[in-house]
Amino acid sequence: VVPHSEREFQAPLKLLILVLCLNIPSEVESCPGACVCYSEPKITISCQQQGLTAIPTEIPIQSQRIFLHNNRITLVRATSFTSCRNMTILWIHSNNISLIEPGAFYGLTKLEELDLSDNTNLKSINPVTFRGLVHLHTLHLDRCGLLELSTGLFRGLFSLQYLYLQDNNLQILLDDTFIDLANLTYLFLHGNKIKSLSENVFRGLINLDRLLLHQNRVSLVHRRAFHDLGKVMTLYLFNNNLTVLTGDTMAPLVSLQYLRLNGNQWICDCQARSLWNWFKQFKGSSSELECHLPPRLAGRDLKRLQSSDLDSCVDSFNQIRTSVFSTKTRLGKLPTGLPPLGSHDGSSKCCQPEMDKSFIYEAKGKAGPSSHSSRSSNNHLKEKENMSRPKYMETDPSKNGTGLPSTVRKLCYTKLNWMPLLKQTNKKKTNKKRQILRCT
Ligand SMILES: *[C@@H]1O[C@H](CO)[C@@H](O)[C@H](O)[C@H]1NC(C)=O
Ligand SMILES: *[C@@H]1O[C@H](CO)[C@@H](O)[C@H](O)[C@H]1NC(C)=O
Ligand SMILES: *[C@@H]1O[C@H](CO)[C@@H](O)[C@H](O)[C@H]1NC(C)=O
Ligand SMILES: *[C@@H]1O[C@H](CO)[C@@H](O)[C@H](O)[C@H]1NC(C)=O
Ligand SMILES: *[C@@H]1O[C@H](CO)[C@@H](O)[C@H](O)[C@H]1NC(C)=O
Ligand SMILES: *[C@@H]1O[C@H](CO)[C@@H](O)[C@H](O)[C@H]1NC(C)=O
Repeated sequence: VVPHSEREFQAPLKLLILVLCLNIPSEVESCPGACVCYSEPKITISCQQQGLTAIPTEIPIQSQRIFLHNNRITLVRATSFTSCRNMTILWIHSNNISLIEPGAFYGLTKLEELDLSDNTNLKSINPVTFRGLVHLHTLHLDRCGLLELSTGLFRGLFSLQYLYLQDNNLQILLDDTFIDLANLTYLFLHGNKIKSLSENVFRGLINLDRLLLHQNRVSLVHRRAFHDLGKVMTLYLFNNNLTVLTGDTMAPLVSLQYLRLNGNQWICDCQARSLWNWFKQFKGSSSELECHLPPRLAGRDLKRLQSSDLDSCVDSFNQIRTSVFSTKTRLGKLPTGLPPLGSHDGSSKCCQPEMDKSFIYEAKGKAGPSSHSSRSSNNHLKEKENMSRPKYMETDPSKNGTGLPSTVRKLCYTKLNWMPLLKQTNKKKTNKKRQILRCT
């Protein structure tokens, strides 16, 4: 039995050897030194890990697959590959490329896969670089130190399915960056420094399946940012700087199955209610959404809160007030005659208008000495009411239909940054401050 099966194996092996012998001389006329060339299954030039500092000049024009990864190549010239019209796969990742001359990939209309990842000095790519790559389905640009994606960089890449942009230094994504990528299924953007998602940043991505945005600094998501993403099944936004997201924002994600929103500083108040409501009908799986504020809900999962937990509004005024108070505490200026601190139902009283206004008065730094001493005095409140109202009402996030947290919320958010500081101070003080935070 054994010899028989061996014979069966040997026939194809002989054929392979025959093919190699016959084909290499005829199809691959010359093989660059330091490279290995073979023609099956495709004409392949393999030069990886050879310590090359430049792309070999004598790459055979028949090459269909070119492997140049793990070298020390610093430059891709406009002429490096232009004759290789049949190239379908180019791996040039893990080099030290700092410049790709525009035109380097011109005319490579059969190119399907281009891996430029792990060239950390690349930093920027000329917007015409990928023009005409109509069959490109996979583009690796992760770990390239990219600072931005120039307008039009991905224009015309109609076949692109996988786009890897993770672990770069992207801060801003422009509207319509991906507008032509109707076939894109994976978009990996995690590990960047992206701060906001604008209305049309993902426009055109009608077949997107997986959108990874974790490990960024996203604090603002436009209400319509996901409007074309009806096919997205996986959305990761964990470890970002979100405090609020509305149900409206999530509504277009009708195919969503896997959602991760943990590692954000969720404010679980009246503004979180629309997201909470959205979760009531969400059938997929989701991470926890740990509440950061208000303190009485800290660490709780937003999804699992009771409706009544979200009755109150931990509004920005309140937060700012807290920070001002604490500053004073630290400076030893806190008035001694304060009313008793936070009752257990503090939340509902927390946002009484008088409180907000009194706070604003102080926050604006216009408080006279008296502002410290009798915050409950009627006179005082009147005065404050007068001064505070117009300025702050204009920027009230709830009054603006965009669904974006506005200046007030941002300000509030900034102030939240010393929350971790609070946690580091000794327990007693922390408790006291927290109570103030809750309500006076
Ligand atoms: C490219 O492929 C086509 C079709 O397989 C072939 O006819 C042509 O000779 C190839 N061109 C080069 C430069 O090898
Ligand atoms: C990569 O290239 C830069 C110049 O662009 C050079 O300073 C650096 O030493 C190179 N790094 C390696 C590992 O070759
Ligand atoms: C998706 O790619 C296929 C082939 O790769 C192409 O025929 C089709 O036009 C592309 N779809 C869109 C919407 O561009
Ligand atoms: C954003 O969130 C990260 C944690 O994900 C945190 O370390 C960082 O301080 C936050 N940035 C701001 C500006 O709050
Ligand atoms: C209150 O507002 C009125 C009109 O806006 C103004 O005339 C008055 O001086 C204000 N009072 C205080 C105490 O600021
Ligand atoms: C809402 O905010 C946007 C941008 O922040 C602004 O352009 C718009 O005028 C605002 N609308 C209202 C009604 O205040």
